[in-house]
Amino acid sequence: MVQSVLGIVGGSGFYNLPGLAHAEWRHIESPWGTPSDAILFADIDGLPIRFLPRHGRGHKLSPSDIDYRANVDALKRAGVTDLVSVSACGSLKKKYKPGDFVLPDQFIDRTFARKTSFFGKGCVAHVAMGDPTSPLLHKALENAAKSEKIKMHRGGTYLAMEGPQFSTRAESNLYRSWDCDVIGMTNMPEAKLAREAELCYASVAMVTDYDCWHDDHAHVDVAAIIKVMQENTGKAQRLVARLARDFPREHPACPIGSDKALEVAIITPPEA
Ligand code: ADE
Repeated sequence: MVQSVLGIVGGSGFYNLPGLAHAEWRHIESPWGTPSDAILFADIDGLPIRFLPRHGRGHKLSPSDIDYRANVDALKRAGVTDLVSVSACGSLKKKYKPGDFVLPDQFIDRTFARKTSFFGKGCVAHVAMGDPTSPLLHKALENAAKSEKIKMHRGGTYLAMEGPQFSTRAESNLYRSWDCDVIGMTNMPEAKLAREAELCYASVAMVTDYDCWHDDHAHVDVAAIIKVMQENTGKAQRLVARLARDFPREHPACPIGSDKALEVAIITPPEA
């Protein structure tokens, strides 16, 4: 059995979750770079929680400026076993309305200006990404949403774009033709790096807008996004607090092998 340590990477609003105890910010050094911020170490009903503000406190980093390797490494060093990523996204289908939460189970990575791996020259590894998210975390998140009466769609494809500009209408329609469900700027390479770090990973994508494909919503408007995000913050807090209260304090090894992803991935022979 694995002793659970729940990591949360997301926006603000998680510093004062109901039931949060023994909260303390700790700076974690990473040889991979500079994490977005210190990590809040705390617990809820005895479950260790580690929270990292993805854009730094005060939202100082754009999605392209975030050091995803340093963030995932710092969370791993902080003992995280199960990582929940909370982020805003645009909807690529009518059925996902602003205010809805989506649990993507697939990602398409269209980012191009980020470091995407802990591996490379000297040590080559190819981790499997066929199932990028944790079924155990998904079930727990779904149950938490149900208990908190939060509308949540299970499954879907998240298109990760570089940004910072939003998509053109042609791009938005292209992603719709690929049957993508939601679009955002942060879940990749985060999900890939979580797998390389052998973390169980799940993303809660909070819909803030219809991107620019929708006839009645021709443009993405940051003011409108912020308004929906503010409305979503309370829901996200309730979701995470409930998740933490109900999450198993220990759980079996990951059914899809995320916690042993490197056992079958490293191709470089060990040095003699
Ligand atoms: N984040 C929130 N809305 C978005 C959109 N429409 N495109 C990319 N990232 C987003």
